[in-house]
Amino acid sequence: MLPALLAWALLSAAAPPGAGGAALRFRLRGSPARQVSPAFLSLTLDANLATDPRYITFLSSLKLRALARGLSPAFLRFGGTKTDFLIFDPKKEPTFEEALFSDLLAKQDASDRCGFKPAPLDLLEHLQSQWPFQEMLIRGEQDRKKHKNTTITRSTLDILYNFAQCSELQLIFGLNALLRTGSSHWDSSNARFVLDYCDSQKYDMSWELGNEPNSFRLKSGIYIDGFQLGQDFIQLRHLLSNYSHYRNAKVYGPDIGRPRKHTQKLLRSFLKSGGKVIDSVTWHHYYVNGRNATREDFLSPDVLDTFIADVQDVQQIVDATVPGKKVWLGETSSAYGGGAPRLSNTYVAGFMWLDKLGLSAKLGIDVVMRQVFFGAGTYHLVDASFEPLPDYWLSLLYKKLVGTKVLDVSLGEDHRRLRVYLHCTNEHHPKYRDGDITLFALNLYNSTKYLQLPSYLSSKPVDEYLLLPYGRENILSRSVQLNGHVLKMLDNETLPALRENPLSPGTSLGLPAFSYGFFVIKNAKAMACI
Ligand SMILES: *[C@@H]1O[C@H](CO)[C@@H](O)[C@H](O)[C@H]1NC(C)=O
Ligand SMILES: *[C@@H]1O[C@H](CO)[C@@H](O)[C@H](O)[C@H]1NC(C)=O
Ligand SMILES: *[C@@H]1O[C@H](CO)[C@@H](O)[C@H](O)[C@H]1NC(C)=O
Ligand SMILES: *[C@@H]1O[C@H](CO)[C@@H](O)[C@H](O)[C@H]1NC(C)=O
Ligand SMILES: *[C@@H]1O[C@H](CO)[C@@H](O)[C@H](O)[C@H]1NC(C)=O
Repeated sequence: MLPALLAWALLSAAAPPGAGGAALRFRLRGSPARQVSPAFLSLTLDANLATDPRYITFLSSLKLRALARGLSPAFLRFGGTKTDFLIFDPKKEPTFEEALFSDLLAKQDASDRCGFKPAPLDLLEHLQSQWPFQEMLIRGEQDRKKHKNTTITRSTLDILYNFAQCSELQLIFGLNALLRTGSSHWDSSNARFVLDYCDSQKYDMSWELGNEPNSFRLKSGIYIDGFQLGQDFIQLRHLLSNYSHYRNAKVYGPDIGRPRKHTQKLLRSFLKSGGKVIDSVTWHHYYVNGRNATREDFLSPDVLDTFIADVQDVQQIVDATVPGKKVWLGETSSAYGGGAPRLSNTYVAGFMWLDKLGLSAKLGIDVVMRQVFFGAGTYHLVDASFEPLPDYWLSLLYKKLVGTKVLDVSLGEDHRRLRVYLHCTNEHHPKYRDGDITLFALNLYNSTKYLQLPSYLSSKPVDEYLLLPYGRENILSRSVQLNGHVLKMLDNETLPALRENPLSPGTSLGLPAFSYGFFVIKNAKAMACI
């Protein structure tokens, strides 16, 4: 195997003279095409992490917190199928593991709830050693579509909230919508217990109600139509208005699954009935089934393009019912069913992830919540050993370099496997200035491709941030290198610097076969970014 730096140097060689490359067309004048939330790239934790609430204690890991903090500002949605099978018992004693953590937290000064000592490492290590069995159990419930109720305690909520707060993430908690009264309305009595407790702790958070209601019948035998679900959300809004902390709290929904025909119908009637009480419309998207997805799916422009029609279907329904309401991807990843083994957790997953981020911003989605930050399956950003995977590093780079203003960029039509996106550079990046722009690009060709900046930018300095797989598994590797340096944490609490590779003005932007990267065009003086 070549040393990383050498391999990278060979791959990222400049275009041969006269090679030209694909010509980029930018639109940098006028106002930006669109603007997305500062929390555009957001995260989820699957509620199945609480299937056995002991495992919530993972969230006390300082390493996990440091990794999460790197992706702030972001929402942290706690939801998923298990949302509708979690029951809060305010009187129940916490598990031994949770209690250990809660005791540490209680000893902490109220003004310094993040300065606590972590749960003992041997406790986390013990849980880690048991986790594969727990994952099998979670997987089994999922496959059999037989979900058991789980009781969560005050400690479960404390640990979850403390993780979000100390990672500087905004917590969104999904309330159980499958608790029903005899007359088939939502039974909010358990939600009241949750709200009473969170209010008493002054927890600053937002709310959802139910997960993928389009498949409630399959999961529980209960059918709830869009009209009724809308009424249930109105009931939640009334309930929240009774709490000083939650009078103005945000509510998001209905977290429908992929917008197939009957799900579209549900969404439409939900929005007509309850659309006025929600702050954003949420839906979920996965490209493929994790059980049979292939490497080719992850590299296929046709598969990537299937996302477009789904966005448009949802957008049309929103425009017709609650025009102007923000649309969020409330849960999204490459492959459903926990991800595709040996794909969703490797470099190749980055094509779906980066393309989804690019398309979403371009098509007007305001927030994209990545399933999952940490937890069961293979689509996580951080694995069960608390090691960040390629999509974590990709997310981190995206967060640092890409701003909220979306610009238009295009390539000629004969480049279907080269995909490019353009934003103003993140205005909070200390190195860059107003008017700088960030291009990000994916090369799905099996050979190196070059991008050519428009001539009026050809004299501008460009910082390259090229991500390539590291190791002999190539694009199925779980390690990445940035500009030739393998990315890894410096210690359990410190992220590495993300170093640019300055290109001399006039160089064409090279992307090796099957790779992706970012290019910051400095001093571009884009009017739309000033
Ligand atoms: C979960 O608990 C609720 C409320 O007690 C009950 O109605 C429901 O049938 C239970 N679901 C399962 C799968 O046990
Ligand atoms: C709000 O509180 C009032 C007074 O405690 C109570 O009568 C009312 O039922 C509550 N409303 C809801 C929606 O919980
Ligand atoms: C994967 O499985 C799903 C569901 O069983 C099926 O609809 C789909 O066609 C399969 N895809 C491939 C590539 O085999
Ligand atoms: C690259 O792809 C083309 C067309 O898709 C194919 O004909 C060619 O054999 C591939 N080359 C390599 C080196 O895989
Ligand atoms: C980092 O965490 C691991 C366990 O996650 C532990 O074994 C190691 O001692 C920690 N290192 C430091 C420097 O704290």
